[in-house]
Amino acid sequence: MGFQKVAEIKEFEKTEKKLVEVGDKKILLTKVDGAYYAVSNKCPHMGGSLFKGSLEDGVITCPRHGAKYDAKTGKGLGKPKILFIEFKMENNRSYPVKVEDGNILTRISSNRVCRPQKYSIPRFFSVTTFFHSLRFSGV
Ligand code: FES
Repeated sequence: MGFQKVAEIKEFEKTEKKLVEVGDKKILLTKVDGAYYAVSNKCPHMGGSLFKGSLEDGVITCPRHGAKYDAKTGKGLGKPKILFIEFKMENNRSYPVKVEDGNILTRISSNRVCRPQKYSIPRFFSVTTFFHSLRFSGV
């Protein structure tokens, strides 16, 4: 599949992010430092909508568990966390973007599907270490 129009530059006059759908995929378009980028809207951790999160200084923060991603590359920058448990960091999927005649185009290849990460308990965490930490914290 080639590049296809997903938005117009003028749509970014008052915002720095936009959610678009290409086929069955939801794509988060962002404007960072005057350039446009596209990543999957589905957080690799547990599928949260990154569009509903924040975008600051080129970093997208997932609203569900706080994972952070580079808006330009999709690279994972901060682990998701639930209470005090940190989860494995995954990179988000990014897509190539180009601008032509005021239009923003992206290319979505269909051979790779971004799925949310399955729930897993970090290796360091176990029931034994949990009770051990309670004992030493005086609880
Ligand atoms: S779903 Fe995004 S950090 Fe958990």
